[in-house]
Amino acid sequence: MKKFLTIALALVASSALAAPKADGKIDAKEYASTYKDTKTGATFNWTIDGDTLYVGLTAKATGWVGVGFNPTGDKKDGADMYMFVMEKGKMIGMDGFMAKPKGEPKWDDREGCKNNLLTSGGALSGGNLTVEFSRKLDTGDKCDVVIKKGAENTVLIAHSDNSNIKKAHKKEDEGRSESKIVLK
Ligand code: HEM
Repeated sequence: MKKFLTIALALVASSALAAPKADGKIDAKEYASTYKDTKTGATFNWTIDGDTLYVGLTAKATGWVGVGFNPTGDKKDGADMYMFVMEKGKMIGMDGFMAKPKGEPKWDDREGCKNNLLTSGGALSGGNLTVEFSRKLDTGDKCDVVIKKGAENTVLIAHSDNSNIKKAHKKEDEGRSESKIVLK
């Protein structure tokens, strides 16, 4: 009986600890928490496991999808930005940041920093882009911001049907949103 209980507890512990997989398929219990933006229809799922944030995001788009965290200035200025686009059937994930309030991000690996995505992947299916990625809450990189565990973070989400990442998303309620989410 004792052995059975030990095995059962070990199984529960291992399933609770299973890290989300960046395979472009979000299973019902894969992430610990979910935020749905009712206006754009984007769904932001996340898990914080130790010092790592795992995100699974679905948006009604066929081109690119992007997430930004914690702008420090006007509008998007200072935000840590991630953009994802399908290229030849493979989802490419880019780590960037905003150095101005509007427009496109700069890319970390072209600015003396690093792409700090630990995992990234995704899929395009039925007119929806699903992307999954992970990163350290504090990457230690000067081009990234710290994501605050157990506290409110500003999360920017945008998407576009154009796969050219130099082309902007639509305006408010259709292609972009800004939300305050307690990430725990
Ligand atoms: C990670 C990708 C991106 C995210 C999460 C994002 C998100 C946002 C958000 C939330 C705003 C509103 C800011 C405010 O008014 O407080 C905004 C504005 C804007 N963004 Fe982006 N964006 C992204 C990528 C891009 C790109 C690639 C472009 C253009 C090349 C672009 C062009 C603009 C422009 C021109 C505005 C101001 C006009 C407007 O209100 O729509 N964005 N973006």
